[in-house]
Amino acid sequence: MNKNYYITTPIYYPSAKPHMGHAYSSIVADFFARLKRIQGFNVFFLTGTDEHGQKIQRAAKKKNMDPLTFCDEISKTFKNLSKTLNLSNTDFIRTTESRHVKSVQNLWNVLEKKGEIYLSKYSGWYSVSDEAFYSENEIKNENNNKTSIVSGSPVEWVEEESYFFKLSKWEKPLLEFYENNPNFILPQARKNEVINFVKGGLKDLSVSRKSFSWGIKVPSNNDHVIYVWLDALTNYISALNYPNQEDSLYKKFWPATLHLIGKDILRFHAIYWPAFLLAANIPLPKRIYGHGWILSGDEKMSKSKGNILDPLEIIDKYGLDQLRYYLIKEVSFGNDGSISKDKLESCINSDLANNYGNLCQRVFSFNEKNLSLSIPTKSKFEKEDLEILNNFKLNYKYLIQNIDSQNINFYVDFIVNHLFAANKYFNDQEPWKKKSDQKRMSTIVYVSLELIRKLSIMLYPIIPVSASKVLRVFNISEDKIDFNSIIDNEFLKSENKINKIGILFKKIDNND
Ligand code: ME8
Ligand code: MG
Repeated sequence: MNKNYYITTPIYYPSAKPHMGHAYSSIVADFFARLKRIQGFNVFFLTGTDEHGQKIQRAAKKKNMDPLTFCDEISKTFKNLSKTLNLSNTDFIRTTESRHVKSVQNLWNVLEKKGEIYLSKYSGWYSVSDEAFYSENEIKNENNNKTSIVSGSPVEWVEEESYFFKLSKWEKPLLEFYENNPNFILPQARKNEVINFVKGGLKDLSVSRKSFSWGIKVPSNNDHVIYVWLDALTNYISALNYPNQEDSLYKKFWPATLHLIGKDILRFHAIYWPAFLLAANIPLPKRIYGHGWILSGDEKMSKSKGNILDPLEIIDKYGLDQLRYYLIKEVSFGNDGSISKDKLESCINSDLANNYGNLCQRVFSFNEKNLSLSIPTKSKFEKEDLEILNNFKLNYKYLIQNIDSQNINFYVDFIVNHLFAANKYFNDQEPWKKKSDQKRMSTIVYVSLELIRKLSIMLYPIIPVSASKVLRVFNISEDKIDFNSIIDNEFLKSENKINKIGILFKKIDNND
């Protein structure tokens, strides 16, 4: 079995500071990275910033800054955000770094040598905001402004000499590839969109620009800069030191396990990127997952719409794990999800404070009073003990299958249901009434501690700080967390003590 796992986020445009949509993709990617790591995989988790192109050049100009200084500044805010979000990323790539520039020029040379690129002239619509070319039937006329039908971004007419990539040639091979790899694009609905688009016919793609200079130069013709999407997509291999295919990073981690992206950039990842790779004879990534949008009201949250929730403000007020939990649990993964402070507050109260926090609090304080913070010696498990404990074992295979098809909601629902079940177990067993039967009381507490341990391991990828805190109660340090141990019903050893912790999650008082 391949024990390497390579997951990526999009590399974000540092045209303005990051918002909740960026935080969302990164948090979800971190969830997978941490989960696979505690499953014993070697994980490479990449994120970064996409710094070339007209969009960035214009944004810099607006601030009267040269593009690199501008990018240095805003890229730093993305890097800081990844720290604030407690991302466990292995690398952070910037497309202005020389390792990336070399890699892109190399890929260009390969494509040119293979006859996949030719010089011609582009005339058509271009959206600088999307950095995308659109055909006439993808444009609408709104109050005399031409905009893209899909994204709503304004488009402008471009006419210039340009290199083209022979995308049309890859129409059939792509359709065959989608057919043979039915889970290459997920969710399924997105896959159908892509297939229909490709079936509608692919035209050759303009892959260089001549009317501005902020980009990577075409090696054989310095009047042109390489189209920013060809440049940006290459980050996924430049970070592994492509073209050095003997390099251990490339050998170990390419092809990527999962490119996690938002649905706005599906076409680039599910059509252009595989076509470039096919043309260069490089293996294709295993999966492209296009998640939905975080909405504010019923509009996409975006810089250009100015309707953004600032992740830093939310974290400051409610806490990081609280935000991570909310985004992962409440947005049905793959679909759009509208978020609000009210819903965040009720999620913190009901799930984190009342369900998980309460379970820990009750069991730990009962233990402190009656068993002086020890892991009690258990006797034989009763039927009701095994019923709840064995659920982890019985569902193990489905949990893994669902994780590996990015069915996050199945995973989270399992946790939430079992938090309820564990609280109910503790209530129903009434250990406080069993003081005359020390053996039974000890077993009930043992089972409850086991449940807290299992659930905290499962919660760790979502709320790493809080779950680690709970696991330290059992002397399980972060580097020792083992997902597979959730099937062990007798992991905790009675010779060990447990450590005290304070309140895990403060309830939000709605009168605040
Ligand atoms: O497209 N909801 O960068 P970008 C959910 N540089 N996710 C959102 C979101 C929202 N409202 N808004 C943004 C680019 N995102 C290119 C990518 S990759 C080789 C190059 C997330 O700064 C989502 O992942 O516009 C989306 O795909 C990405 O940010 C776009 O970020
Ligand atoms: Mg965007």
